[in-house]
Amino acid sequence: MQSVPTTLNVQERASLREHNSFGLPALARTLVHIGSESELRRVVDHPEYGVAPKLVLGGGSNLVLTHDVDAVVLKIEIRGRRLLREDADAWIVESGAGENWHELVAWTLEQGWPGLENLALIPGSVGAAPVQNIGAYGVELKDRFDSLDAIDLVTGRTVQLDAAACRFGYRDSVFKQHLAGKSVITRVRLRLPKPWQPVLGYVDLERRIAETGLTHPDARTIFDWVCAIRRAKLPDPAQIGNAGSFFKNPVVTAEQCRDIIGRDPEIVHYPMPDGSIKLAAGWLIDACGWKGKSIGRAGVYERQALVLVNRGGASGAEVVTLARAIQESVYGRFGIRLEPEPIIV
Ligand code: EPU
Repeated sequence: MQSVPTTLNVQERASLREHNSFGLPALARTLVHIGSESELRRVVDHPEYGVAPKLVLGGGSNLVLTHDVDAVVLKIEIRGRRLLREDADAWIVESGAGENWHELVAWTLEQGWPGLENLALIPGSVGAAPVQNIGAYGVELKDRFDSLDAIDLVTGRTVQLDAAACRFGYRDSVFKQHLAGKSVITRVRLRLPKPWQPVLGYVDLERRIAETGLTHPDARTIFDWVCAIRRAKLPDPAQIGNAGSFFKNPVVTAEQCRDIIGRDPEIVHYPMPDGSIKLAAGWLIDACGWKGKSIGRAGVYERQALVLVNRGGASGAEVVTLARAIQESVYGRFGIRLEPEPIIV
């Protein structure tokens, strides 16, 4: 039988610097390491922590900490991954929320269950993946999602949510909206459809096909290509603090887009199925001359203007000051308001 620790693993005045991919300094008054569902229930039942506001930390890869945190910080470290079932149509894989996302992707491929290869090398934990419906190279989490378990922080009850209940949107879900701070994802089940079909429509992948002549790459090859593309464009948070794309790609009406194209014919844009147009925020920021620039110790990455970086010792306030300056100049030139992708605390 597995032994369940009777005391919670709590740190008072804990540094969060190691727990956020931007490497921003902040102290948590109380940090609780959660290794199991029962530990989480013990927090809910706790006389003090149970009623306190909570901040849930996954990999801390989508977070900007601008000050010390009074809320009880829950660091989700629930592990374990397995093939839950396999039928004629799919492999269903279940993972604890505290597993590392990229390691899960690599492991499923090693096991011979393809489908997550386009989502390789996205920083963060498995439990954080549904929160912002991570996406890259033509695939979003929602396209490979089965269901998840979450624990209600008021009742301590486990609830199972399907895709509809998660209300996935572009880098959005119910966990960024009305369940924020109220519910903790503990397990995620992914559905990897059979037969496997590659997703190769993204321009960077098309370029690889043209370069290598491999018109029918297998899942492992796509995984390797995605890793190489990301490494070339995006900073590794282990070396340069960052939170991936800092802004969402803004969506405008066809009419607004015509206006903007009239003035800037070069603008990178993608038509959406509903007739709206998505603009490349990186292009907008780049066009305003921000690439490689800094304010204080926060900067805009040299190879991708959509990524803000910690040049060493930056504070969350410096990152927010830089983000605001970028928003103002993009608004001034294009009349478009950029919306941050990470959660700002
Ligand atoms: N561009 C520029 N200058 C820049 C950056 C981009 O001109 O400094 C242009 C590029 O040339 C390209 C276009 O903008 O034509 C789009 O850039 P890219 O292909 O790099 O993709 P993205 O829109 O910047 C999105 C996601 C990424 C995801 C990639 C690949 C968002 C906010 N970002 O980036 O997700 O990996 O597509 O699918 O949707 C993340 O969310 O953290 C993230 C990294």
